[in-house]
Amino acid sequence: MRFTVTDLLNKKQQKQKITMLTAYDYPFAHLVDEAGIDMILVGDSLSMVVQGNDTTLPVTMKEMIYHTKIVARSTKRAMIVADMPFMSYQIRVDKAVENAGRLIKEAGAHAVKIEGGREILQHVKAITEAEIPVVGHIGLTPQAVLRMGGYKLQGKTDEQANRIKDDALILQEAGAIAVVLEVIPSKLAKEITETLQIPTIGIGAGPYCDGQVLVIHDLLGLFEKFTPKFVKKYANIRGDILQALKQYKEEVERGEFPDKEHSF
Ligand code: KIV
Repeated sequence: MRFTVTDLLNKKQQKQKITMLTAYDYPFAHLVDEAGIDMILVGDSLSMVVQGNDTTLPVTMKEMIYHTKIVARSTKRAMIVADMPFMSYQIRVDKAVENAGRLIKEAGAHAVKIEGGREILQHVKAITEAEIPVVGHIGLTPQAVLRMGGYKLQGKTDEQANRIKDDALILQEAGAIAVVLEVIPSKLAKEITETLQIPTIGIGAGPYCDGQVLVIHDLLGLFEKFTPKFVKKYANIRGDILQALKQYKEEVERGEFPDKEHSF
């Protein structure tokens, strides 16, 4: 049985933590699903951790559909949330609805995620009215990296914190099913979590959110460019892969592979 919007809201009411991780391809999506994670985010972070770009800005609708399709077909239980990439919703509300619809209809997502607060109120409303569940995303919104001047802690001043709190309420009012809170102080995330009826899912937002999300390449130690403070590395897969690749190289060069066991 797929994890549904009802399950999501029930978890908040029953004070059970919600788990979410990113995945972009068959092996990881399959593993995340098998591990029993509630929600898989096909994040536009794939621009950085899969495509090797410096920001999330270059990834396209076509690429998001391609990866979401793979993740949807590789899973049985998790709810699949597809990120709406940069410029797929900002320009016009009808375009936002059309692109959200493509992520559901063509790619098989069960919900879409959009970055922003009050400025996307009409977009969230219209997509929700088209019967598509929307997850909001406020605080550090990586698609705004150029305006923000880097990936920095948001909501430090009272003015900024109040704006983020108001945006959370605006998204709930517009019909969002959950809100991702990225890189904001724990105290602010706690206040928002206690105020909202919909769940908050934190990344770099401390322990008080209703759920947590991480980028799987960060959690597994597969992304070497930088490690944000909020990332806990649960494995060092990059080191293991590198070790295996070096061993293969050496064994081929020494004539030890293939041996009798691996030959006909
Ligand atoms: O794209 C992504 O992976 C995200 C998470 C960081 C929440 O938006």
